[in-house]
Amino acid sequence: MCGIVGYTGKRNAAPLIVEGLKCLEYRGYDSFGLAVMESGDGSAGHEDAAGKPTVIKKQGRISDAGSDVSVACGNIGIGHTRWATHGVPSDVNAHPHTDCSGDIAVVHNGIIENYAELKKVLIAEGHVFKSETDTEVIAHLLEKFCNTADADGLIGDEKIDFAVKNLMNTLEGSFALLILIRGFNGLIAIKRFSPLVLGIGDDELFASSDMTPILEHTQKILFLEDNDYAYLTPDGIRVFGYPSGEAVEREVKTVDWDVESAKKGGYEYFMEKEIFEQPAVFVNSFRQKIDDGAISVLKKASSITVVACGSSYHAGLIFRYLMEKYCKIPVRVEIASEFLNFTIAKGTAVIAVTQSGETADTLAALRHAKANGCPVFAVTNVLGSSVTRIADYVLYTRAGPEISVAATKSFTAQCAVLLRIVSLIGKGIFEKELFEIYPVLEETLLFDPADASAVCKDAENIFYVGRGVYYPISLEGALKMKEITYIHAEGCAAGELKHGPFSLLTPKTPVVAVCTKDDAYPVMISNIKEMKARGAPVIAIGSSGDKDLKEIADIFIPLPRSENICEVISATIILQMIAYNTAVLLGRDVDKPRNLAKSVTVI
Ligand code: AGP
Repeated sequence: MCGIVGYTGKRNAAPLIVEGLKCLEYRGYDSFGLAVMESGDGSAGHEDAAGKPTVIKKQGRISDAGSDVSVACGNIGIGHTRWATHGVPSDVNAHPHTDCSGDIAVVHNGIIENYAELKKVLIAEGHVFKSETDTEVIAHLLEKFCNTADADGLIGDEKIDFAVKNLMNTLEGSFALLILIRGFNGLIAIKRFSPLVLGIGDDELFASSDMTPILEHTQKILFLEDNDYAYLTPDGIRVFGYPSGEAVEREVKTVDWDVESAKKGGYEYFMEKEIFEQPAVFVNSFRQKIDDGAISVLKKASSITVVACGSSYHAGLIFRYLMEKYCKIPVRVEIASEFLNFTIAKGTAVIAVTQSGETADTLAALRHAKANGCPVFAVTNVLGSSVTRIADYVLYTRAGPEISVAATKSFTAQCAVLLRIVSLIGKGIFEKELFEIYPVLEETLLFDPADASAVCKDAENIFYVGRGVYYPISLEGALKMKEITYIHAEGCAAGELKHGPFSLLTPKTPVVAVCTKDDAYPVMISNIKEMKARGAPVIAIGSSGDKDLKEIADIFIPLPRSENICEVISATIILQMIAYNTAVLLGRDVDKPRNLAKSVTVI
């Protein structure tokens, strides 16, 4: 996830772009850049805009940038603050990206899935690339289509329409684009599966990934829809639909959010916003191409060991259950800080799962594995993070920056990548179901956690229980609850309760039980009856239409109708929502819980 911003109007663009990028820094902050140009002589239409776009871009945070960034002259501009997905954070990989001539500058939020093959063709046609990014293909494609339009004698809107429509026809993936083209007296905005909104000021127009930078200047917001493209010129905003090319009307709303609530997309906390980003994050993380070399090394391994901490450790446990069941490969999962105490069997492949890529214990564990001659892998959310410099193979989650300390979308993104590995080694097992999971997760987000939170908020202790893959899901649900509400919550294998924890069950000890219609269902039902017999209130999460479970539970939460594997992810989201809502009821600092840090970079 990155932040893009654009301006065209009566003022100098650079300072406005810089301030806009500072508002978007929470969307990505490993590098930044801007491109500005002067509009033409002001006559109507597309008179020649003076000179090429001037591009300034650097690795690092916009908030650390010096005043030199704001001095570039021009009243039309675009800017970008980056969360790297392709190509490590660096000056050359920062956006904007330009074509060979330097007449075209592009900023992009999203992922171009077919960039590799497009890049090959463009290089063969003589285009010279400077960066490792997927985005740069967009600038060269526009150059190619503009040159074709010139050869066909197209000018003005006809030329731009030709280039934009061919671009949208060629790109696969998600993109919100802002484009400067020399000779076009304004901005071009394109939206497909990534957010992009426009602002209407007094003789000035704005574009941005979200409203935050725009609300500083105007409350009149136009919401583009997927496959819209728009021209922002002195004549105003014109929006067109792809592929028809027909002009479309988009509603302009007056939005009275303050800047802080705009950063959170109108949600009260980043955690809630990040919970609601999960359908897209899961699908983007699952669908990505995984390095064949990595898969073949894992297939050949005599066993696999996962090293991780916290939520990432729980994701590793889920991976174990599924790999052992569907791929028959032995998998160990070790808490990273304990791993150095153990021997490593010959032929073991070791996978570090770490959202930040900076967790000291996990880095130490992976170095230990590497020193013992193991092939080492990293599943991480941050390009260029420390773990990527240790691992032989890096598999990225596509969660974008996760601001809240509590892991939510990064956890389900880790599950997505690990499930992809299971699917690729397991001959495509559950690939179809997970490719189509988006509506199931969207439906999951309709859940109202009020009843469950009302039971949890007054508890001093809460148990989370499950069997099989729902044991690590229970651990994760308990971690979410304890870390943001400060209520003691404990995840426990359902079959383990009778070996001690039962003594803690009272009418004041709620139990959250995940009990879907899988192999463990019958024994889970009897476990739940045993807990009920001791007076514990039971909140049961189960498969849609399960009348028996509804009958015995105090609160029954049905998952959307779906395949078992999808229920694993939707149950996770339900547990996140219960924890989140309970923390809000208790007035906790949800995004910044006491004593915790987002990344534990010390042993
Ligand atoms: C989970 O909500 C916490 N944020 C914490 O347990 C986290 O998962 C753990 O510290 C590991 O972090 P990492 O994934 O960045 O290595």
